[in-house]
Amino acid sequence: MASSEQQTADPCVLVIFGATGDLTKRKLMPALYNLARSGLLPDNLAILAFARRVHTIENFRRDLTDAMQQFGPQPLDAGLWERIVARVTYLTGDYADPAAYATMRQVLEQSDAERGTRGNYLYYLATPPEVFAEVARQLSAAGLARGSQPFQGWRRIVVEKPFGHDLASARALDGELQAAFDESQIFRIDHYLGKETVQNVLVFRFANGIFEPIWNRRYIDHVQITAAESVGVEGRGGYYESAGALRDMIQNHLFQLLALVAMEPPISFDGDVIRDQKVRVLQAIKPMDDEEIIRRSVRGQYGPGVIGGTPVPAYRDEPSVGRDSPTETFAALKLNVENWRWADVPFYLRAGKRMARRETEIVIQFRRAPVLLFRSAGAASLQPNRLILRIQPDERIEVQFQAKRPGAIVRLAPAQMNFCYGDLGESVLSTGYETLLYDVMIGDSMLFHRADMVDAAWRVATPILDVWGALPPRDFPNYSAGSWGPAAADRLLERDRRVWQNPEQEQSPCDP
Ligand code: BG6
Repeated sequence: MASSEQQTADPCVLVIFGATGDLTKRKLMPALYNLARSGLLPDNLAILAFARRVHTIENFRRDLTDAMQQFGPQPLDAGLWERIVARVTYLTGDYADPAAYATMRQVLEQSDAERGTRGNYLYYLATPPEVFAEVARQLSAAGLARGSQPFQGWRRIVVEKPFGHDLASARALDGELQAAFDESQIFRIDHYLGKETVQNVLVFRFANGIFEPIWNRRYIDHVQITAAESVGVEGRGGYYESAGALRDMIQNHLFQLLALVAMEPPISFDGDVIRDQKVRVLQAIKPMDDEEIIRRSVRGQYGPGVIGGTPVPAYRDEPSVGRDSPTETFAALKLNVENWRWADVPFYLRAGKRMARRETEIVIQFRRAPVLLFRSAGAASLQPNRLILRIQPDERIEVQFQAKRPGAIVRLAPAQMNFCYGDLGESVLSTGYETLLYDVMIGDSMLFHRADMVDAAWRVATPILDVWGALPPRDFPNYSAGSWGPAAADRLLERDRRVWQNPEQEQSPCDP
């Protein structure tokens, strides 16, 4: 999240590895277009697409233009898009072939000479994760990374998820990357941190005076973080079989949301100051022992069901998924952040595919008011106050409280106040990647994972994955597509006399 001053990013060459994949078409090119429209891209930006597939530059540019019709904002400013796509060059090569990197080096130097890119190179790894380390090694060997000989300009590398498969593989990958680049050059991307409403959690907490004094165990009963998706694995069965909900959503995206909610106030908006505070939260989550894992974690897999009136198949009937797959498409955890602010305040996290609705939200539930006063006025149903930070799809903040029903006798009714994010003005067109790309170009690392954060997150997730791996699930599938997940997830909260907030409402107060 760049500072409040808007500046054009540095001239540079954006090298996209794996450029023929979906990410370039769906996110990166539309994001570059949106940045150009906001005047944030430098005139002397060059884009070097690198991939294994053989393409002529004309074909590749035509493919990008077709994809922009589908994924870009409409109507497209044709003149602006022409200027962007004209900056794209294409290089075919194998990720492990030193000759390809020698050619790349020539192309980059040529770009510096002809387009004024000043030796600033931004490498974006949009490849399968198996080649992340190889690309870093080859860039280093070609003198394109940290570099043994002096070079002008900066070198930065963006690494997409998944960052490792568990603690050991994440550390091994880090070792490879750090052999080629300094930590300050490595940008581990998490697209959740590119969302406006996620960045707003920081502003909401620390730019307002009234929330911080009550943001602790004295006033907060518990926190729920839900990322429910109504989609299934969307043709990504092969990848998902090796991932599952805990790796795919919780270990990265939801842990980041948790860290933003639970972190101590930073003394500045400097990237490392914020990340220092966030990593302390993750480090304060004690990894669970086997028994705790069994009590405090739930996994699920969807069977067939109906979503939005349409029947959908079971996970095991999706393409590239094993007929007896043990992969979880739903996971829920109860975690404790063991520090003075949060001791004894549970954080319940859940993420699932093929759930009843698409809904990502953070619910802060406050302690119940003493009920003596209202015993005769329906106090039994007195709801605790809740603050809901709705991340998507309707971006808003809701406060739930009690009010008096109009009339001569005192009767209570639940009420709510809503702030719709869209009310702040014209929404900025966004794929979620604009801020992230721009931040890498200006060298702001605040919204990116640091090595110690990844490590702390895997330290919590790996023991859970180990126990789940050792005890194959016997009840899969255990929830119907279109529901709110397995019954065991409800029991996880019922045991603590709590319930999940399952948003029922179809109509959002923010709908026009
Ligand atoms: C990705 C996961 O990181 O996040 C996907 O790999 C998931 O499985 C997606 O669907 C969800 O992102 P969003 O922005 O739609 O909530």
